[in-house]
Amino acid sequence: LNIFAIVPAAGTGSRMKSNLPKQYITINQKTVLEHTLNKLSYIKNINSITVAISPDDEFYQDLKIENPKIQTVYGGNSRAISVLNALNSLNTDTKKKPDWVLVHDAARPLVCPDDINKLINLAISKQKGGILACKVKDTIKKSVGKMQLDCVSETVSREFLWQAMTPQIFKFEQLHQALSDALTQNIDITDEASAMEWAGFEVMLVAGRSDNIKITTPEDLQLANFYLSQKKS
Ligand code: C5P
Repeated sequence: LNIFAIVPAAGTGSRMKSNLPKQYITINQKTVLEHTLNKLSYIKNINSITVAISPDDEFYQDLKIENPKIQTVYGGNSRAISVLNALNSLNTDTKKKPDWVLVHDAARPLVCPDDINKLINLAISKQKGGILACKVKDTIKKSVGKMQLDCVSETVSREFLWQAMTPQIFKFEQLHQALSDALTQNIDITDEASAMEWAGFEVMLVAGRSDNIKITTPEDLQLANFYLSQKKS
């Protein structure tokens, strides 16, 4: 089985309030992106890793990337376009196409390799795409809306709520079709699963560790620094 990974890393990280995009910030001696790529490099079943970087990227070339399975492609203006560009680059007649693609955010360097293997093994054994996710722990409030963002309209039951994380794994042809169609029709796509759900596929929820945080704000960086120093990775 041919499993390829895609790492969207073309964001600017505006919520980090830093000049450096968050994937290039150094924590625990390596950039966030290097930590993430190292984690994926440990996974034996992954044959190739495509990193989507911004056409204006000035930092990737300075990373210490020694794994010959890693290549880059230009991303786009949204995460979904970055992933689609990577999928398009794998869809050429000259290349051996993957059976499955596993998409993982550059900004999630804390992912645990055991969780990645669990997701891959479940997807293959059940022949169904799936995502790492964790059950919502907090009480969830919905605000009134645009006019009154700071006022509660209701408490949403958390009984069946999950927080979506990455990696997300899907059959290559199905994800490629679903994502291109969804983007053509201007559907708001914030992860691969939302394109697959929109296209009518069932998506498995696979419970993963909750410390697989997406680094988004300066507080997340401090937390990631702490976790990475604990794990000595
Ligand atoms: O912005 P957000 O935190 O949702 O980004 C998730 C991941 O998608 C990050 O790793 C980011 O670099 C990537 N991304 C991308 N292309 C964009 C925007 C975000 O590859 N245009």
